[in-house]
Amino acid sequence: MKPNRAHNFSAGPAALPYEVLQKAHKELLDYRGAGASIIEMSHRGPEYTEIDLSARKRLKALLGMDDDFEILFLQGGASLQFMMVPYNFMFQKTADYINTGVWSKKAIKEAHLFGDVHVAFSSEDTGFDRVPEDQQIKLSGKGEYAYFTSNNTIYGTQYAKEPNCGELPLVCDASSDFLSKPLDIKKYGVLFAGAQKNAGPAGLTVVILRKDFLEKARKENVSSMLSYPVQTGTLFNTPPVFGVYIFNYVLEWIEEKGGLSAMDIYNQEKAAILYDEIDKDDFYRGNAHKDSRSLMNVTFRLPSEELEKKFILESGQSGLSGLKGHRSAGGIRASIYNACPKESVEALVSFMQAFRAKNG
Ligand SMILES: Cc1ncc(COP(=O)(O)O)c(C=O)c1O
Repeated sequence: MKPNRAHNFSAGPAALPYEVLQKAHKELLDYRGAGASIIEMSHRGPEYTEIDLSARKRLKALLGMDDDFEILFLQGGASLQFMMVPYNFMFQKTADYINTGVWSKKAIKEAHLFGDVHVAFSSEDTGFDRVPEDQQIKLSGKGEYAYFTSNNTIYGTQYAKEPNCGELPLVCDASSDFLSKPLDIKKYGVLFAGAQKNAGPAGLTVVILRKDFLEKARKENVSSMLSYPVQTGTLFNTPPVFGVYIFNYVLEWIEEKGGLSAMDIYNQEKAAILYDEIDKDDFYRGNAHKDSRSLMNVTFRLPSEELEKKFILESGQSGLSGLKGHRSAGGIRASIYNACPKESVEALVSFMQAFRAKNG
């Protein structure tokens, strides 16, 4: 364990790679001899321009994107994208939405303001315990895009691969599994992610747009800040410079670890250690349907709420932080994004074993 560091299972903002924090720590007073930090210099100056270009280049290489894609570094969080997507692409038309949790519901609510929402699947009746199998998705047949949330942070469910929506461009909220595994990026019209889970600090939202889809964005009577075509030009307003700076280092760290396939293998290993422990007996009960289990947010319950409170208290006292489940789901949630080391997962499993032995 690194000095002064807890085993951090926070759902977001979440653990960042230690090496990235060390670099930022070293450069915060003086960015490479400039006599100022990166957050004190112009976003149009050479230092930041180099970082911006580097982050774009790295992201393109990692996701296997060619020049058919645009990348935006915006503010406003994933929540602003819930509105920007229908504002640009759905206006007075129809779109298909897959409802797998609170974040999808919020996106659906925003979309209702702009056109007809067709809910192609919902797992609300079963407590959002799963994502759909392909044959359960019932498309409207007239949608502009198919919207899904690739990882449901609150409930601990995740798609193992993209939902099959035929030729429809996919629009994806990938906030909580962005860069955790390779993607078939050509299927996506839009992919967006708030950075604060797997990719950097809060304040940066990464938006990827496929150019042929972007061409369909609304162009008349639009607010500049909310328009993807306007934002695609050269830095429309001040970008979240600190977020992009850290993001660039996170991308470098992923490259050094072997890229997205290596991340995927590591994430599968970590999640398997936890799910194996949960599945040993009935003391711990996983929330998610087994086929939909998330590699990023592992959610489970204990035999009583009393025991859950005790688990959270005692785990905190043992140096394991951020394990309380989301207020709308309860129970325990261990968020084990890219930067959560295997040793933290092992420490959690040892704690779980000792806790079961004492309270089971
Ligand atoms: C899947 C998902 N989408 C959207 C959000 C909202 O993100 P933001 O707070 O950046 O708007 C979250 C936040 O936890 C999330 O997990």
